[in-house]
Amino acid sequence: MPSEADTLTIALTKGRILKETLPLFEGAGIVPLDDIATSRKLIFPTTHESVKFVLLRGSDVPTYVRHGAADMGVVGKDILMEFGDEGLYEILDLEIARCRLMTAGIDGAQQKTAAKIRVATKFVNVAREHYSLRGLQPNIIKLYGAMELAPIMRLADEIVDIVDTGNTLKANGMVPREHIADISSRLIVNKASMRTRNPIISTLLESISDAVALRRTEK
Ligand code: PRP
Repeated sequence: MPSEADTLTIALTKGRILKETLPLFEGAGIVPLDDIATSRKLIFPTTHESVKFVLLRGSDVPTYVRHGAADMGVVGKDILMEFGDEGLYEILDLEIARCRLMTAGIDGAQQKTAAKIRVATKFVNVAREHYSLRGLQPNIIKLYGAMELAPIMRLADEIVDIVDTGNTLKANGMVPREHIADISSRLIVNKASMRTRNPIISTLLESISDAVALRRTEK
């Protein structure tokens, strides 16, 4: 058994990204020993004796990797845009969990162009930057979920949120407006780990890149 210091810790994002992440690691020969999708555990040894997974909320993944509590991580580009990439390298686009970061408003409602537009979002920094490029200084209202409710309840004029199928917007009488960025999940690495643990990280990167390329050809 390798010692704890030899174990490479990879922080995975729970939720819908996880389902698409696991086959890529499986392609690289790394499979969690427990059922990671249903278990209440947070740390998972894998079939690779030198690799373990920890399971986190997406917004916590860069924090674990930045501080070196995890060597690597899988996280959405939306989270990296919002929280920045200080202390870490974004080394691979995994081409999974693709979606768009967009503004949206109530269907049929006049789009506000007033400087004081109210915008509800969990992507506070991304939203501020986007609206400032349009010359607006939005009043940003930080929410943690169910952004689509905010315009309906007159808490905000628009939202900035992830749009995948568009069903959530539609079901709540809203329409997408401006495209901010195309999003997919990224593999990130702690900067110090990249130096000190380069052999295992490089090998893993190669295997995962192959799995991503294979998935691309199979689509
Ligand atoms: C995301 C996002 C939207 C929805 C978009 O929420 O915030 O609500 O998915 O997907 P759609 O376009 O396919 O309808 P998620 O379910 O990830 O939960 P969250 O509120 O915790 O972000």
